[in-house]
Amino acid sequence: MIIRQMNVSDLEEVARIEKVSNPEPWTYADFEDSLAKEDGTILMLTAVDEVSNQIFGYLVLYTASGESEIVTIAVAPDFRRRGIAESLIEEVLDISQKSSLYIEEINLEVRFSNEPARKLYEKCGFEIVGQRPNFYHNPKEDAILMKRIVNA
Ligand code: COA
Repeated sequence: MIIRQMNVSDLEEVARIEKVSNPEPWTYADFEDSLAKEDGTILMLTAVDEVSNQIFGYLVLYTASGESEIVTIAVAPDFRRRGIAESLIEEVLDISQKSSLYIEEINLEVRFSNEPARKLYEKCGFEIVGQRPNFYHNPKEDAILMKRIVNA
C-alpha cells in the first residue's frame, strides 16, 4: 500500500466509499471542488494498492493558521482493521514535519456512537476536549470534539 495525493481519477471510487461510510456523505462534487482549490490549505490523501491502484481509503484535512481539521476520513468496508486509517493519520503528521504544511494542532468531530472512529483517534493520540449537543442529523446525535497537539 502507498499513500499519495488524491487525484481526479480517484474520485468516483472515493465518493462510492464515502457514501457507504458516512451518514451525511460528501458528494463527488464536494471532493472535486476541494481538489480544485490548490491554495495549500487542503490536503487530500488516498491509500491505494501500488500495483492494482485499488483505493482502500482516504483523508481530507483543512488547515488554517496552523490549526487543522480532519473533515472526512474513511476506509472501504472490506479493508478495515488493517491499519489503513492509522497510516493515513501518520502520513499527515509526517508531511507536517517534512514540508511547508505547518500544523500546530489537529481538531475533529466524531459522532458519539462511532466507536471505531473514537478508538482510532484515541490510538492516534487525540484527546476529548468537548461535546456539541445534537450536532449531527440523520440520525440526530451529539458530536465529541477531539484534539491532538502536533507542534506546541
Ligand atoms: N472497533 C474498535 N476499534 C477500532 C475499530 C473497530 N471497529 N476500527 C478501528 N479501531 C481502532 C483500533 O484501536 C485500531 O487499532 P488495532 O487494530 O491495533 O486495535 C485503530 O483504530 C486503527 O485501526 P485502523 O485499522 O487503522 O482503522 P480502519 O482502517 O479500519 O479505519 C475508520 C477506521 C473509522 C476510518 C473506518 O472504520 C471507517 O471508514 N468508518 C466509517 C467512516 C467513519 O466513521 N469515519 C470517521 C468519521 S469521524
